[in-house]
Amino acid sequence: MFKKPWGGRFKKKIHKAAERFSASIDLDKRLYLEDIEGSVAHAIMLGQTGIITEKESEKIVKGLKRIQKEIEAGNFPFEEEFEDIHLNIEKRLIEKIGDVGGKLHTARSRNDQIALDERLYLRRGIGEIINLIKGLAEEFINFAEKNIDVVMPLYTHLQRAQPVLLSHYLLAYYEMFKRDRDRYLDCLKRINDMPLGAGAGAGTPFPIDRDYVAEMLNFPQVTKNSIDTVSDRDFIAEFISTSAILAMHVSRLSEELVLWSSKEFDFVDLGDEFTTGSSIMPQKRNPDIAELLRGKTGRVYGNLVSILTLMKGLPLSYNRDMQEDKEPMFSTLDTVTSSLEVLTQMIRNTKFKPENMKKALTNSFITATDLADYLAGKGMPFRQAHEVTGKLVAYAEKKGKELLKLNISEMQMFSSLFEEGVFEFITIEGSISSRKSYGGTARENVLKMTDEAKKEVAKW
Ligand code: ARG
Repeated sequence: MFKKPWGGRFKKKIHKAAERFSASIDLDKRLYLEDIEGSVAHAIMLGQTGIITEKESEKIVKGLKRIQKEIEAGNFPFEEEFEDIHLNIEKRLIEKIGDVGGKLHTARSRNDQIALDERLYLRRGIGEIINLIKGLAEEFINFAEKNIDVVMPLYTHLQRAQPVLLSHYLLAYYEMFKRDRDRYLDCLKRINDMPLGAGAGAGTPFPIDRDYVAEMLNFPQVTKNSIDTVSDRDFIAEFISTSAILAMHVSRLSEELVLWSSKEFDFVDLGDEFTTGSSIMPQKRNPDIAELLRGKTGRVYGNLVSILTLMKGLPLSYNRDMQEDKEPMFSTLDTVTSSLEVLTQMIRNTKFKPENMKKALTNSFITATDLADYLAGKGMPFRQAHEVTGKLVAYAEKKGKELLKLNISEMQMFSSLFEEGVFEFITIEGSISSRKSYGGTARENVLKMTDEAKKEVAKW
């Protein structure tokens, strides 16, 4: 019968309460595939290097593959008594192939094994996140391309500030998610260090071949210091911190959608598929999905604080506290993945309301900056131009007129530099098309940005 692997030194069995408390199998069974992949590579290497015989190695590999099938068919008897995924699989292996199964753990410890499983798992998870970011980026780009003529107010301090193209606005989010993607790719570089071979922390006396294991598992390199290898969870902290920044972006966009779908803004219709009704107020359509996306950000931030706090006081090398890294890691992965999935679908289904966006550009002196720029263009120092325009705006406000409704002689009361041509500068179209500086909102700029973004994403 399979006993706990440290059984030799102990006279009494672990207390039931302690057993329950320390088991992580409920969570870490998610790592079964990575655990088996790692064990298969390790067993092959043990056979190739002659640490065990080729025959033994083959037997172990076959047994592991059978276990994989068993887990996938839902027939694997996970047992709390065997703590975690590593011991559960090892126990089953010995049940299936006999004592030779016990040779799998030669030159290995659960300390380097878990580091490997987590790296493999995250590598996959990040691959999926990166794909989802691509899907979301494509939504922004498609939309920007198809709606190039939609205008809207840009806000600063949530006050109407300047006219911009909606496409430009959405491409701002494209830039954010592109940086998130870059951060994940960068994070992958550090995840991609193969830890197996560190043993419990000091290395191993067996003539193992770490490079061979790395090659089989598709790692470009192996970790350099066995102590660091079993102590390090930076790669998880980095993944969560990258995710926290992405979640912040998701949350800001969701916040916009919550605001924009209110009657006060009325810029978008999120559609029946992404809103819910109120159980008491029949007229309501609530942006619950956008709100939940915003809310789930808190969970990711919490996970970041959790992993950082978990690690901050630990002396080297491995400490059992580190088993607690799974919850924040899985929770972050699940939250980010499901958030990106639903956000992409919601954006795809969102109907923008160009008429209302345009309406929001009236009665707000939104082209006042253009007026100041006009004067500055005629040689007036900008500070003075700002002052003159401010007075002109105050005058127009008092008269209850928009800037465009003033006549030239009214303007000239404030500066003799005003000429008839000024009115072209202060239309919405005039304002937008004048913003030709690189990155600005002029139509041709935004078209170029869209085109570049499209080419970038095609290479992702
Ligand atoms: N379940 C453990 C974890 O997740 C695996 C490593 C256990 N190592 C040990 N020395 N008890 O961290």
